[in-house]
Amino acid sequence: MFQTDLLAGKRILVTGGGSGLGLAMARRFHQLGAMPVICGRRKDVLTEAARKLGDAETHICDVRDAAAVEGMLEAIWRAGPLDGLVNNAAGNFIARTETLSPRAVDAVLGIVLHGTAYVTLGCGRRWLEAGQRGTVLSIVTTYAWTGSAYVVPSAMAKAGVLAMTRSLAVEWGGRGIRLNAIAPGPFPTPGAWERLVPKPEMAAMIEQRNPLGRSGAHIELANLASYLMADQSGYVNGEVVTIDGGEWLKGAGEFNFIGELMTEADWDALRPAPKGE
Ligand code: HXC
Ligand code: NAP
Repeated sequence: MFQTDLLAGKRILVTGGGSGLGLAMARRFHQLGAMPVICGRRKDVLTEAARKLGDAETHICDVRDAAAVEGMLEAIWRAGPLDGLVNNAAGNFIARTETLSPRAVDAVLGIVLHGTAYVTLGCGRRWLEAGQRGTVLSIVTTYAWTGSAYVVPSAMAKAGVLAMTRSLAVEWGGRGIRLNAIAPGPFPTPGAWERLVPKPEMAAMIEQRNPLGRSGAHIELANLASYLMADQSGYVNGEVVTIDGGEWLKGAGEFNFIGELMTEADWDALRPAPKGE
């Protein structure tokens, strides 16, 4: 799909890059010539990811901890500046919202909203001070704008990350920093599915209820991310690109469901008889 040097020489931090979609993006960036830097809380996960990637810089960092984020960015910059940041780290689980404790709310908002802000501002400040260009990509979801029952802190946080993306795209765009977002539909990963899909029958519903009748392949998302991180997409700024097989639109359109109910005979019966018969 791309020339193999699309991201040559770029140093890109992928938060939560040790597993799932973060690892898929880091792998694709590396194939396209980038030097991925990955962070997360679990050392063993990062070590295994670095082994799979061949060579990747790893940092143990809880993005909820602003001081730890600063420490990580200092360490990264000592070896050289980043060119890009992918805000991918997230926390989520399904629950009836009225049962959530304050710590449960804070756990998700802390990772997704605050963590994303800490890392983005830390990188942005360094790029602005150095007069250097930078690209930020944040992984949100389509329920950042539709909302979703049972994942309310996640929906609140992802909406906030989208608002940050659009706001800073304007504030920083003229100074060489682009910010975009990707809103994926279902891309099965162990991390997401073990927390969000407690019943096997739910998996089929989530994965098949979009117009294409399948879930996303990790490489499809990784390719989109590569495009948005590349200089060749330099005029795309403040955008959120949906990659969900048409899932959210199918849920939104008033009559979208009737194709599954109407038979050939039903459609024929609705057509007026040709005039003159
Ligand atoms: C209710 C829960 C809960 C659950 C945790 N809590 N799980 N409450 N239902 N299922 C509560 C705990 O009881 C505790 O509150 C508080 O949350 C913090 O829990 P800890 O386990 O101490 O937190 P921590 O170890 O920091 O873990 C954070 C986490 C965890 C968010 C809870 O799930 C995590 O580490 N997630 C990281 C990876 C992840 O979530 N990946 C999926 C992203 S998928 P109390 O009051 O009891 O102390 C995604 C995709 C969306 O975002 C779209 C899909 C289509
Ligand atoms: P995942 O494998 O669970 O990825 C989450 C990553 O974030 C993990 O590597 C985790 O590593 C890291 N992380 C969590 N909390 C962290 C913290 N406090 N500090 C640093 N790192 C932290 O799940 P995924 O499915 O790949 O999700 C990746 C992204 O895609 C998320 O933003 C998610 O919301 C988004 N998304 C996924 C889907 C989907 O269908 N999979 C759909 C829409 C959006 P540690 O636990 O080691 O810290």
